[in-house]
Amino acid sequence: MAATDGKLRVAAIGDLHVMENSVAPYRELFTEIANAADVLLLCGDLTNFGKTSEAEILAEDIRACSIPVLGVLGNHDYECGQPENVCSILHEAGMIVLDEQAHEVGGVGFAGVKGFLGGFGRGELAPFGEPIVKAFVDEALSEARKLENQLRTIRTDRSVAVLHYSPIERFDHVKAVVHGHAHHGTYEGRTPLGKPVYNVAQFVLRPLLGKPYTVLEI
Ligand SMILES: [Fe+2]
Ligand SMILES: [Fe+2]
Repeated sequence: MAATDGKLRVAAIGDLHVMENSVAPYRELFTEIANAADVLLLCGDLTNFGKTSEAEILAEDIRACSIPVLGVLGNHDYECGQPENVCSILHEAGMIVLDEQAHEVGGVGFAGVKGFLGGFGRGELAPFGEPIVKAFVDEALSEARKLENQLRTIRTDRSVAVLHYSPIERFDHVKAVVHGHAHHGTYEGRTPLGKPVYNVAQFVLRPLLGKPYTVLEI
């Protein structure tokens, strides 16, 4: 399953925004990706409004995909207030929805969470004063903690952190961070400690790479 020189070819795409009137929107693309990569990461905003009807449509394309599909939900998948239903539809279709537990494919560990606004570590908002500020900070910290707990359980020497929002660092085995959400952001960046970060929102990749996904060798 590994690519040349023992590396794993990891395809990533974020911000699929599947709508309920779409017909097999990612069927062909997933087939193309399965020929180019060993594993596919979906970096959130899988549905446009978090409707179960949207999730069912994507689930069919995931079922038809011949490589492992892993990923996280995004804020759009929460819009209808039933992320657990979206999650279970995708899970039944074979997708590994990362949130509490890391997963290993071909010698690479994958840890993932949706993440939250405000990012991790940078420009930290202090949990001080109004309850709503404390609740906001609490949510961001809890997502960061979930990701760190998963990264801690990874025993492989290579791992990838998968998020919808901003990245995290601190773990040496993290070779790349992929995220979506920033439809108008830049593709490549680095965390302050130098970890490569890729914004794989399809709207960023399409004009840059001529295709809506990227393939990283990890
Ligand atoms: Fe999005
Ligand atoms: Fe988003």
